[in-house]
This record gives sequence, structure tokens and C-alpha cells, in this order.
Amino acid sequence: MALVVTTGVAVPPDVEVLAVPVAKGADGPELLGDGHGLDPGELAARRFEGKVGETLDTAGSDRTTVMAVGVGDAAEVSLDVLRRSAAALVRAAWKRGSAATTLLDAVPPDVDRAEAARAVAEGAGLAAYRFTRYKSDPDPCRLAGLTLVGADDGAVAAALDRSAEVVSAVYLARDLVNEPAGSLSPRELAARAAEIAERVGLAIEVIDEAGAEALGLGGLLGVARGSDEPPRLIKLTYDPAGADRTVALVGKGITFDSGGLSIKTAEGMMTMKTDMSGGAAVIAAMSALPALGPPVRVVGFVPATENMPGGRAIKPGDVLTTRSGTTVEVLNTDAEGRLVLADGLALAVEEEPDAIIDLATLTGACIVALGPKIAGLMGNDDELVDRVRSAAERVGEPAWPLPLPKEYRKQLDSEVADLKNIGGRHAGALTAGLFLQEFVGSVPWVHLDIAGPSRSDDDDGAVVKGATGAGVRTLLELLAGDPGFPTLPDGNTTFS
Ligand code: BES
Ligand code: ZN
Ligand code: ZN
Repeated sequence: MALVVTTGVAVPPDVEVLAVPVAKGADGPELLGDGHGLDPGELAARRFEGKVGETLDTAGSDRTTVMAVGVGDAAEVSLDVLRRSAAALVRAAWKRGSAATTLLDAVPPDVDRAEAARAVAEGAGLAAYRFTRYKSDPDPCRLAGLTLVGADDGAVAAALDRSAEVVSAVYLARDLVNEPAGSLSPRELAARAAEIAERVGLAIEVIDEAGAEALGLGGLLGVARGSDEPPRLIKLTYDPAGADRTVALVGKGITFDSGGLSIKTAEGMMTMKTDMSGGAAVIAAMSALPALGPPVRVVGFVPATENMPGGRAIKPGDVLTTRSGTTVEVLNTDAEGRLVLADGLALAVEEEPDAIIDLATLTGACIVALGPKIAGLMGNDDELVDRVRSAAERVGEPAWPLPLPKEYRKQLDSEVADLKNIGGRHAGALTAGLFLQEFVGSVPWVHLDIAGPSRSDDDDGAVVKGATGAGVRTLLELLAGDPGFPTLPDGNTTFS
């Protein structure tokens, strides 16, 4: 049960915890707004400095614990700081029933209050997640309600409604990604997508092996050959009345990546149930569209399969013919994501979209380049890359642009086919991006390599250990938070 965040003009009388922002001033902790009895001297004596994410419980009144929440330098309180402070307060109030916070008192005049409320609600809501399905003795967040104390002309309440949708979508992605591969086969992923589509009102089409054969999805079918589980191609459509533009989303849906015959090490395989994180992000983000209601048609494709080394598995040297007719020599069966994405991207192009965004846990090389917390961002359209980057930054899902150098394209030349699926030892994230680029034609396209941020080894602000739901917030920010996205070919960025 997700934490419900609401607004309130005053602190509810029976609240168990009241979290009050405290800045880190030059001379010690500084109260921001009404301190509700907090004493900076006492805080300092108890070694509380006011650093971002620091919390300290104080006695407060009979019923209410007053918690100091650090927000760092008062002049530097940003959306990211608010998300982190809110996440910290939820972790510190994990076992309490109800909480209120005056964190909005910490918002500097140059930061929009509604955006600030969203950051607090999303930081709090996302930190309250835990995957408990298989725990005999789960320790879920008990906090059921958080009141954001402060004046509201309606904009804050509207922002909170939107945050609730975003948070539920991220929960959905995390649940899908955390689910073990043994219980989340491609068929099960498709069944869950169908349940979700039915519940929220999206159109869904699930293409089975025979359908994939008929469509010529040689990449997807090739990867699936080594597995006893049949593949699925999931297509979701959100088609609101009056939409004058289309965005296509494509998410890598490898429900388990053993590497295939180019098998991974035991260590390398341990986290590979998460190799459908891109697909989960597409399904989850789309699940929120009917509620958020952006006037854009969105079509999502999730090519889903296991990558296994069974007796019929593709062998290094085999050639696959993908949906677009492009042939690929598979020299490493562990570079399977790009094979299924080749089909997904080709199908996306057929929708004649104004933009394509793909999300994939595509390369270990991207983690080497950017570390585990930053997504790689590549594309064939600088304006679109910029838009995705700034949307990602606004919601606190960092993504960093990487180039698609033309001079590296020849590394994908094959002796026997149109392309080979590996591009050599260096710049693996870029050659993977260059491979995908072959399938998008002239459609403005962005690729997010989320191999790093799709999972986390620690609780960190809005991110929790395990599946993070990476990409969901960025997609929703773009689709429902940026009225100029996507730009039409005539450069028109306003909705009609
Ligand atoms: N799913 C992996 C990428 C990955 C690695 C994601 C680590 C998350 C954590 C992908 O299918 C893969 O194995 N890629 C290979 C490509 C190589 C063979 C060209 C890789 O990155 O090593
Ligand atoms: Zn792989
Ligand atoms: Zn993979």
C-alpha cells in the first residue's frame, strides 16, 4: 500500500511525527520556518548539523515526535534536496503510522512550490517501497499518510495527485523487475501487462511465437531459441481523442539473460532477472497515461524473451534476419538486447511516430563509462536528446549524453551479413547505440542505456535497494510534463 501524501494548512493534531526542515548554517543548525519547538542549541549538542538527509527525533509534545530533517545550505534547497530529505524522513519514520512535514517552508523563492511538493511526495513515496512478496517476516513501511503542511491555492494538491500516479507507476516497474525470472517468464510478463492494460484502459496486443514468425521478428525469435519459454511481443497503445502526434516507446524485455552460449559468469548472471527493466519502464509508464491524460498517442513495444543456452540456441556465427530485413551476424549471444530491440525499433518506425525512445539494460560498458547511477543517453536528434536529458534531470534520474561517432560504425561491419552484433573491445555502449541506430531510419530517436541505474545496491534518496524503476519518471515527465514534446517536424511545439 503506497504512502498517501496530502496537503494541510495546519499540522494535524494527532500526527505521530512532525518533520521540520533544518538547514546547515555557518554557525550550526538553522531552523527554516516555524521550528515547532526545535532548539538549534540542542540539535547542535546532539551533533545534528543539518546535512541533506540527516534526521534526528526530539521529544516534541505528548503525542508528536518532532523530527529535524536536514536540508543542507538554505540557499541551495533544490528539487533534488527536497526528494532526498523527504526520503530520509520516511526512512526515519518507517514504523510510525502518520507523519506531517513543513518541508515546503524550506523552498526558496526561485523554486516552484508545486514542483517542490511533487519532489517531496515522490521522494517520500518512492522511499517507502519495499518488495516483500517472498519475505516470511516482511518489514514494510507502516507510514500510511504524510501531510504536507502549508498554504495551497490548489496547485500543490494537483501536483500531489500527479505524484501519486507517478509513484504507483514506479512501484509497478519495481515489482516487475524484482520478480524472479523463475516466476516472470515472457508469457507471465505479457499476462501482467494485459491485466494492467485492462485495469487502466490501454489497448494491448500480445504477439506469440507464430505471430512473431508471421511478422518476421527474427531478432526476437533468434534470441528465444535457446529457451524452453516462448517469447512474446507486447504492444500497448494509449490513444486519446484529439492526439495529433505519436511517440513510440521500446523497452528491452529479456526476462533472464544467461548470456546464451556466450554464457556469463555466475557472478555476472546474478542480477540478470533485471534485464527486462526497460520493458518494465515502458509498461509502467504507460500504465499512468490514462490518468495523467497527455494529448499524445503513445505506442509501446516490449520484445520479451529469455536468453538461454539450450540445445537449439543460436550459435556464434549464426545470421538472423530482423523485421526490417537487415541481417545480423551474431558473434556474441550475450549481446542479445540489440537483437530484440532491432525488431522492436523496426515495429516502432512502422507507426510513423514523431519520436522514438528506447530503454534498455544494454551494456556493461555503459556502467564502466558512467557508473551505476547515471544512464547513458544517445540519439540521432540533438533537440530530442536535450529534452530527454532535461526531463531526466528535473525528476532526479540523471542521464548523460554519449556520442554516436560515425567513425565507429564500421566496427559493426560483418563479413557475411549486413551487421554484426558486437563492435569490439572499446566504447561498447556507443557501438551498441550505433547498432540500434541502424533500425530507426530518420525518425528522431533517443536511446537510454539503463544498465546501471535499473538496480541499486543501496537505499539512496528516492532510489531503493534492488529494482529502481529507472526511466519511468523520465518518461512520464516527457510525455505528461513537457508540453513541447515531441516536436513536430514543422518545429511546432504547442498542442492544438
Ligand atoms: N544485459 C547485459 C548488459 C548488462 C550488464 C546489464 C550488466 C546490467 C548489468 C547485456 O545483454 C550484455 O550482456 N551485454 C554485453 C555486450 C557485449 C557482449 C558486446 C556486455 O555488456 O558485456
Ligand atoms: Zn546479454
Ligand atoms: Zn541483456
